[in-house]
Amino acid sequence: MTSADPGDRLTRTESRAVRARSLTLLRDLLRPHTRLLTGSAALVVTATAGQVAGPALVAATIDHAIPALDQGNSRPLLVYGVLLVVAATAAGLANGAYVRAAATISQAVLLDLRRRVFRQTQRLSLEFHETYTSGRIISRQTSDLEALRELLDGGLTGVVANLLTMTFTGVGLALLDWRSAVVLAAAMAPAWLLTRWFQRRSQVFYRRQRTASARLIVQFVETMTGMRAVQAFRREAHTEREYGRYATAYRDANLDTFSLNGRYQPGLVLIGNLTVAAALAYGGWRVLHGYLAIGVLVAALLYVKRFFAPIQQIGMFYNSFQSATAALEKLSGLLAEEPTVVEPARPVPLPAARGDLRLDQVTFRYPRGPVVLPDLDLHIPAGQTVALVGTTGAGKSTLAKLVTRFYDATSGAVLLDDVDVRDLAGADLRRNVVMVTQEAYLFSGSVRENIALGRPGATQAEIEAAARAVGAHHFILAMPEGYDTDVNKRGGRVSAGQRQLLSFARAFLADPAVLVLDEATSSLDIPGERLVQRGLKTLLAGRTAIIIAHRLSTVAGADRVLVMERGRVVEDGTPTELITAAGRYARLHAAWQDSLV
Ligand SMILES: Nc1ncnc2c1ncn2[C@@H]1O[C@H](COP(=O)(O)OP(=O)(O)O)[C@@H](O)[C@H]1O
Ligand SMILES: [Mg+2]
Repeated sequence: MTSADPGDRLTRTESRAVRARSLTLLRDLLRPHTRLLTGSAALVVTATAGQVAGPALVAATIDHAIPALDQGNSRPLLVYGVLLVVAATAAGLANGAYVRAAATISQAVLLDLRRRVFRQTQRLSLEFHETYTSGRIISRQTSDLEALRELLDGGLTGVVANLLTMTFTGVGLALLDWRSAVVLAAAMAPAWLLTRWFQRRSQVFYRRQRTASARLIVQFVETMTGMRAVQAFRREAHTEREYGRYATAYRDANLDTFSLNGRYQPGLVLIGNLTVAAALAYGGWRVLHGYLAIGVLVAALLYVKRFFAPIQQIGMFYNSFQSATAALEKLSGLLAEEPTVVEPARPVPLPAARGDLRLDQVTFRYPRGPVVLPDLDLHIPAGQTVALVGTTGAGKSTLAKLVTRFYDATSGAVLLDDVDVRDLAGADLRRNVVMVTQEAYLFSGSVRENIALGRPGATQAEIEAAARAVGAHHFILAMPEGYDTDVNKRGGRVSAGQRQLLSFARAFLADPAVLVLDEATSSLDIPGERLVQRGLKTLLAGRTAIIIAHRLSTVAGADRVLVMERGRVVEDGTPTELITAAGRYARLHAAWQDSLV
């Protein structure tokens, strides 16, 4: 999921642009926390300085305070003792405050980012959602945010402190005894090589681990969502074998990363210990010959030893840093997407439309697709019920999406009451034009709430009237808690047909001037559809309607029939006219009548 798609390979300039985009996002996210950020920088510097002062104070105590005490002067010991306590306390307090401040910032950043991603996915047009698969959106909201959380929670603050510790320790050592610093610098070469080796290998291993985990999840989700097909076609053994294979690959990938860590860490510890030994040998020789104070040697050894622990942590941190960078790049890409259907800057007000629809030389193609509607001129006067029929892929749903402005025409215009729909405010458009589709989506909540979506604030009487009008009232009353039944709870489960009736009730309550039904009755059985016919009549009365339907029974009551072929209207007339004209509609109609006997 977080693994790079092979199709995502970028050129040098493109990846520079991507990096710039993520940095801008990062800066944007951090801007509100500038003061806290500055404060925590001061805290971490204090904490590290306090820590690094320790060995230097130990050196001074050994070399000055103890000899002074020997001569009866206890003042230096007292001074250094107090300084040691102060340094340790300051370091501890500052470190605690720093960790809390860093956590506050990172949690605020994550919260902000999470909400931005959600807001953005709702803001983007249908076009985006029809091309960017839901799997990808889900990984943005889950594994990408998770990778950032891991980085922020689990390491970033530590790494900042570690880098500072290394710098301060190196400088402290150089000031204290530059010869030991040279020994340490010499040891940096193998440590650096080992760390580079580790980073290179682990990059490969971690990517393999992420890919393996993504495969495992995808396979699991596919099996679960397709469980009916799996069981119907007796695929259980096959899917289980496949799952076993992916799970094994995931285990192997995990073991590989562990064994890599198992070589890196001891290697670094070995280099560290050898360096301490070398510094001790060299320093000891100098102490013996009187070139170096013993206290300085002790402090130098403490510094050398301390220098290595952070390298190890930074090496391990590298992987989560890489995943988090990749995640941030993908998130910034999502956040940079712009809606294709935009609100007009100065909308034309249209509180209550009559419902006159006009398509003026409309051409349409989906992005990167062929032309779906070559050139459509169509006028639907207010109040007319139009049935739209035609083979699958003729462009009926596309026409519906243009009229409801889920997409904009590539050229030409869609006009409602002679106003270009692109000049209407989203709220006006959605109030005047409503689409009901086959999916008839229900939100978790009660039946009442689901119907009330049509008109927020509707009274119980209005909701009930809407349900009665479309013929849904009786089955709702038969549910365990009537209108208060939760549609996702036991006993609240509704059939596909009942779901469609509920979405009709919702549309009835919304009372739009234009209603578009795209295959909205196709989940109903024939008796179910008969029942709906009456409801449908009430629903359509007094408004402009476009009904896209497979079953001609739904079409029978229409004022006008349009037959579409390859994006063109090939027949246009009243049902009776078209039957006598003996064209496509007449053939469809004859076939349908035959099927009834
Ligand atoms: N989101 C989309 N992206 C690209 N092409 C699409 C999309 N939706 C539909 N199409 C294509 O547009 C044509 C018309 O589709 P559609 O309007 O759904 O037909 P109908 O509803 O009449 O069955 C088809 O060739 C289909 O493949
Ligand atoms: Mg369709």
